[in-house]
Amino acid sequence: MQYSDQVMDHFMNPRNVGEIENADASGTVGNAKCGDIMKVTLKIEDGVIVDAKFKTFGCGSAIATSSMATEMIKGKKLDEALRLTNKAVAEALGGLPPIKMHCSLLAEQAVKSALLAYYKEHDLITDENKHLFDKLDEDAHDAH
Ligand code: FES
Repeated sequence: MQYSDQVMDHFMNPRNVGEIENADASGTVGNAKCGDIMKVTLKIEDGVIVDAKFKTFGCGSAIATSSMATEMIKGKKLDEALRLTNKAVAEALGGLPPIKMHCSLLAEQAVKSALLAYYKEHDLITDENKHLFDKLDEDAHDAH
């Protein structure tokens, strides 16, 4: 099995590992199949993600995608971050073996579940953005 240099780099030197103290949002998701777990914490200011950290108890692909996903959402507006897909994260890493694509869902879903909690808390769910959260349920289904 061949992993790209980017995957190896983000696995060996993951960015944004840890937990933000007094985070504005946090989300934890698990993959029922393999038992891997990821927690993401976010710092949010004026509708922009100013910091993101993760803790992943999981395989190398889950760690690499968590690292890349947190890099990609930093500096993004909340609605933009919500549109981040696991495919985009995997592409940014130069691709993942098909059998490991499900691992990249962990990062996407942890970000989305953190944002869902934040949107609920701040009453930000609208007719325009609520479909983005429907996807969370679908994805969660696929991941099982
Ligand atoms: Fe569980 Fe990769 S094997 S996330």
